[in-house]
Amino acid sequence: MGDPIRNPEVKYTQIFINNEWHNSISGKTFSTINPCTGEVICQVQEADKADVDNAVKAARAAFHRTAPWRTMDASQRGQLLLKFADLVERDIIYLSSLETLDNGKTFLDSKADIEQSISVLRYYGGWCDKITGKTIPVDGNYFTMTRHEPIGVCGQIIPWNYPMGMLSWKLGPALACGNTIVLKPAEMTPLTALACAALLKEAGFPPGVVNVVPGYGPTAGAAISEHMDVDKVAFTGSTAVGHTIMQAAGKSNLKRVSLELGGKSPLIIFADADLEEAAAVAHLAIMNNHGQNCCAGSRTYVEESVYDKFVALAKDRAEKRVVGDPYDPKTEQGAQINETQFKKILGYCESGKAEGAVLQAGGERKGDKGYFIKPTVFSDVTDDMKIAREEIFGPVQCILKFKDISEVIDRANLTTYGLAAGVITKDIDKAMTIAQSVEAGTVWINCFDMVTSQTPFGGFKQSGQGRELGEDALKEYTEIKTITMRLINKCS
Ligand code: NAI
Ligand code: MG
Repeated sequence: MGDPIRNPEVKYTQIFINNEWHNSISGKTFSTINPCTGEVICQVQEADKADVDNAVKAARAAFHRTAPWRTMDASQRGQLLLKFADLVERDIIYLSSLETLDNGKTFLDSKADIEQSISVLRYYGGWCDKITGKTIPVDGNYFTMTRHEPIGVCGQIIPWNYPMGMLSWKLGPALACGNTIVLKPAEMTPLTALACAALLKEAGFPPGVVNVVPGYGPTAGAAISEHMDVDKVAFTGSTAVGHTIMQAAGKSNLKRVSLELGGKSPLIIFADADLEEAAAVAHLAIMNNHGQNCCAGSRTYVEESVYDKFVALAKDRAEKRVVGDPYDPKTEQGAQINETQFKKILGYCESGKAEGAVLQAGGERKGDKGYFIKPTVFSDVTDDMKIAREEIFGPVQCILKFKDISEVIDRANLTTYGLAAGVITKDIDKAMTIAQSVEAGTVWINCFDMVTSQTPFGGFKQSGQGRELGEDALKEYTEIKTITMRLINKCS
């Protein structure tokens, strides 16, 4: 399988525009840190408005109707995506090691994220020459057809929790449809996106098709979402910034917007479930990726009659979870992304205790260096508590008690979010009643977090706009053009 590289070399730290590396126009750089130690890994060139302008110009030129990217066969676009996927696979050990250094998540988590990214890139590589329109039987002597054309220059702003996953979810469908791109990685995790820029060039993508601008949200990110010559912005991150992005689009050029935002996803466990198995699913639903997961099962609802037994199982699992050196294959949880998130999560632990939830496990930092948090379990959580309402984005399981199915559906929906939900039961009618009644973009039955390349993913309510992955994501990256031709019947 390949051993992790503990001190991977950082090869790329500049801004990538037109298949070339540039220093920032302002001369500024920013530090990216290793969350396991809090130490600076390296300086990265800090893109701001002027650099984003240059990246947009390059992307616009690459989108010109006569440019190589636009005149290329659709199947050739597919070949380029497949080649890029192959190069990511070739470098998976290096990229996973680099991700772990920059993000603090375990090497195995980084690797799993990159494996999924490869699958997503290959899935969209296959779509390139299958994006078709319709012929429509209109009244009168006309022939009408539709074409699904690329939108143009797409700004893509991604978060730090799955840096490579989010890169592939954004690049895959946008490139499959023939768009050009200005991608801003999160300031906490710019390194793998820059390494991928080099791979895109190696794969043979023409200059300007993908440009990567590392930098901060309120500067580089805002420059993208406010830009008058960006045709679409795709964003994954916090709901608060999602609001800002949509406003920026509204205030500028009404660019198309797709958003994948936060969640507070319920996982409902009925008394008939195999409790050991349910506890295992619920544990990973929240602890996976250190709890830094938009669709984390962060509200565990357990039926009254098995509640106490379930809490004991959850506590046991949390206490046994291995936290520490992220390069050790036995480690299940590394460090949280940065000091801000670390303090925010510990703040939620304090709030849980203050509001009367019972701390069963964790609730504090682990060690005295880096941003490690002990896997945490709260029981006796009620819907009104802050820890039950707000996205914690950390390894904190909140266990709530319910009496019957109707009550738990209403309570599951008592949130402004609607990203995902889960149910664990052997009763198919209960499972399907939940699946149909819960307001969420994805519902998992007897499993959780089964996100695949082929299936649409996105949110109801304030969890987002539009869908990523699957065929549905292609709609977010195409304009539909109707072409109507008058027919003169030469036979009459
Ligand atoms: P964030 O929403 O600030 O960051 C996500 C991305 O947006 C980054 O690339 C950032 O540079 C960019 N950004 C920030 N402000 C921007 C602006 N004004 N205009 C354009 N782009 C901007 O998220 P942050 O602060 O890193 O995390 C805060 C909380 O957000 C987390 O605790 C979690 O609750 C949520 N979050 C949700 C994610 C998800 O997958 N849905 C991912 C990351 C964070
Ligand atoms: Mg970092």
